[in-house]
Amino acid sequence: MTKIVSLAKRRGFIYPGSEIYGGLKGTWDYGPLGSELKFNIKQEWWKTMVKNRDDVVGMSTSILMNPRVWEASGHMTGFNDPLIECKTCHQRFKADQEDVIAEHENWHKEKKEKVDWTKVKKFNLLVETKIGVVEGEKNTVYLRGEITQGVHVNFKNVLSSSRLKIPFGIAQIGKAFRNEITPGNFTYRSIEFEQMELQYYVKPDKKESMKQYEFWKNLRMDWYKSLGINSDNLRFREHEKSELAHYAKEAWDIEYKAPFGWKECEGIHHRGDWDLARHQEFSGQDMSYFDEETGKKYIPWVIETSGGVDRAALFFLIDAYSEEDDRIILKLNPKLAPYKVAVFPLLANKPQLVKKAREIYEMLKSPIPQFPNYPITVAWDDRGNIGKRYYSQDEIGTPFCITVDFESLEKDDVTVRDRDTMKQVRIRVEKLINYIKEKIC
Ligand code: GAP
Repeated sequence: MTKIVSLAKRRGFIYPGSEIYGGLKGTWDYGPLGSELKFNIKQEWWKTMVKNRDDVVGMSTSILMNPRVWEASGHMTGFNDPLIECKTCHQRFKADQEDVIAEHENWHKEKKEKVDWTKVKKFNLLVETKIGVVEGEKNTVYLRGEITQGVHVNFKNVLSSSRLKIPFGIAQIGKAFRNEITPGNFTYRSIEFEQMELQYYVKPDKKESMKQYEFWKNLRMDWYKSLGINSDNLRFREHEKSELAHYAKEAWDIEYKAPFGWKECEGIHHRGDWDLARHQEFSGQDMSYFDEETGKKYIPWVIETSGGVDRAALFFLIDAYSEEDDRIILKLNPKLAPYKVAVFPLLANKPQLVKKAREIYEMLKSPIPQFPNYPITVAWDDRGNIGKRYYSQDEIGTPFCITVDFESLEKDDVTVRDRDTMKQVRIRVEKLINYIKEKIC
C-alpha cells in the first residue's frame, strides 16, 4: 500500500485533500491522471449499464434533498455505525473493527496505560449542513448518504416521461457523503466519495426478482474481470442477517483481496419494496406502477447494484501494480489507462524528428467519427533518454509508446512498444490509427 500511495501522489493520481492546510481526514483530490482513470471507469460503467442496454436509462439527481426523504428512506434512524470511545484518550472507533481496537489497546498497554471503553453507541452517518440566508432561520439539510434516493423519488417522473415497462432500471453516478467514524486505508473509506448505481425495478415476485438478482450479481462481477482484475482477487460474500442494511432483504458484496484484507468493492442488494413503499407513505403520493397487460397496480421491487468509483479506482490500481526487474508497471486495461499512447521524438534537439512526432501526436488526438473511443488521450515526452521515457510511461500504465527515429523520416513509419511485453514493432504511419484502435478497443 505504501508503494501505491506514493506512486499515486508522485505521478498525479491521488493527493491528500487540502494538503497545504494539513489536509482534511477522509478527503482526497484526484490529479491529472487520477481524474482520467476515474473518468474512464465511469465511462466503462455507463457503457455497460446504460448505453448498451434498452432497459436502463440514466439520471443525475441533486445532492441536497428535502430532509423528509431521509426520514422516509430510514437513514435518519437506521443509517448507523456502532461507535465506542476510548475513555483514556477519547479516540472514537467503529465497534466492529476488532483489529483496529486491539491495536489501540496494545498501544496503551505498551505505555503502561489502562484501557477502558464506553458502551457501544449508535452513530448516525448522515452529514449535516445548513442552507438559508437568514442567521438563526437556516434549515438543516443532509448531504446524500447514498445516491439511491434521488432515483426512487423520481420513479413516477421517469415513468411518465419515458416508455419504459417493468422490468427496467435507472442508473446514476454521483457523489455521496458519510460521516465515517474511522476513514482510512487510503481512499477505501472516505467521507466524500462517488457511487455508481443501478436501481432495477421488477415485479413483486420472489422467483422473478431472484432471477434478476442473480443476473445483475454476475454481470457486475464479470465487469470487474473484463476490465482486468485478476479473478483470484475477487469473490462474492453474502451478508449475514445481522449485518443487512435497514433497506435490504438480501445482500451480496463483491469483495477484492486488498493488501489490507478482503474488502467490499460493490454491493448487490435486494431492496424489495422498501424505498417506493416508504416514499408513498411519507409523501402521500402514489408510487405504484400500472401493469397494462394485467390491469393491476403494484409497488415494484428493486434490485440494486451499488459500486464505489473510488474503491474501483483503488482496486484497479492495486491490481495493476507490478514490479519487474527495475521496472514499475501499472498493467491497467487500455480502456482504463489515463493515456492510451505516448509519442516521443527519439532526440529532442532534432527539429525534423520533433516535427514528425508532433504530426503523429496531433493525428492520434484527432477525433475519428466511426470510432467512439476517440479522441484518445495521448502523452508527449521529449525529455531525457528514451529508456527513461519508456519506464516513466510504464509506471502510469500507458499501454503503447511510439517513437519517431531517423528511419521514420525515410520510411514514414514508427516503432510501437508494448508496455507489458516491451516488444517493439515497426508500423507504417498510415496504419497506426487502426493498429492502436484494435489494441485499445
Ligand atoms: N445504495 C446502497 C449503498 O449505498 P453501500 O454498500 O453502503 O450501499 C455502496 O455502498 C458502495 O459505495 C460500496 O460498495 C463502496 O464501493 C462505496 N462506499 C460506501 N461507503 C464508502 C466510503 N466511506 N468510502 C468510499 N466508498 C464507499
